[in-house]
Amino acid sequence: MPAAAEILQVQQIEKSFGRLQAIDGVSFGLETNKITILIGPNGSGKTTLVNVISGFYKPDRGEVYYKSQRITGWAPHRVYHAGIARTFQIPALFSKLNVLENVLVAEKKNPGEGFLRAPIRALWKRPEEASTERAAKLLELLNLDRLWEKQASTLSGGQMKLLEMGRALMSGADVLLLDEPISGVNPTLAHEIFSTIERLSTELGVTFLIIEHRLDIALGYVDHVIAMAYGKIISNGSPDVVISDPHVIEAYLGA
Ligand SMILES: Nc1ncnc2c1ncn2[C@@H]1O[C@H](COP(=O)(O)OP(=O)(O)OP(=O)(O)O)[C@@H](O)[C@H]1O
Ligand SMILES: [Mg+2]
Repeated sequence: MPAAAEILQVQQIEKSFGRLQAIDGVSFGLETNKITILIGPNGSGKTTLVNVISGFYKPDRGEVYYKSQRITGWAPHRVYHAGIARTFQIPALFSKLNVLENVLVAEKKNPGEGFLRAPIRALWKRPEEASTERAAKLLELLNLDRLWEKQASTLSGGQMKLLEMGRALMSGADVLLLDEPISGVNPTLAHEIFSTIERLSTELGVTFLIIEHRLDIALGYVDHVIAMAYGKIISNGSPDVVISDPHVIEAYLGA
């Protein structure tokens, strides 16, 4: 059984595509409320691992546990509703809805499409709606509160990534899996995104697993680093330890 301090655990995961073994016996735990980054060369299996955890791929072998419950092989929507949300390299937003509406429609209690067909403005104009308050609080934490009325399609790439996180949190997720949240984002906004991640972890107790190549920016914000190469974990520990690990330098940093 997983240790109680670990909200998520993967054990001996294997995943092949034809003859290519993309994940080859990966095990680790995510400590509750901590920020972990997953690093490694292109093709080392990072995104595949996130796809396995989030239910998009079924592993050939191994187990995934969330809050001590076995979730291996669950469908993506079931994993999402349990509390593990992932974001994509290209944010999945409702482009015609504004920022606040995007967060509101993500709330778990909303009955999907029926909710979308209802007049959305009528919903958020009711001031007694507790959801609106929750959404507003989230937007404040994400530094998007002043943009609440902007149509999602007009946001910058970095703002879209923040909004996508807001949607995941509104759905009740407490584990966020982020695939390269600052790729293509300018350094100032990249630091802002990682400060926001830190704030969400401190203030809401969110646990993060983040795939990221831009270590110059990310390392200052994270508690743990997991390094992969050729589908295996080659180092796992505090940023200082992993970054100075000769295996990591050889496989990834030295290149
Ligand atoms: N659906 C798929 N079908 C076939 N091969 C796949 C599939 N998904 C991933 N792969 C292969 O599995 C290996 C691991 O890919 P993955 O995307 O997990 O790497 P990554 O570490 O995320 O790389 P990057 O840093 O470039 O995003 C690669 O060789 C990739 O081509
Ligand atoms: Mg990837």
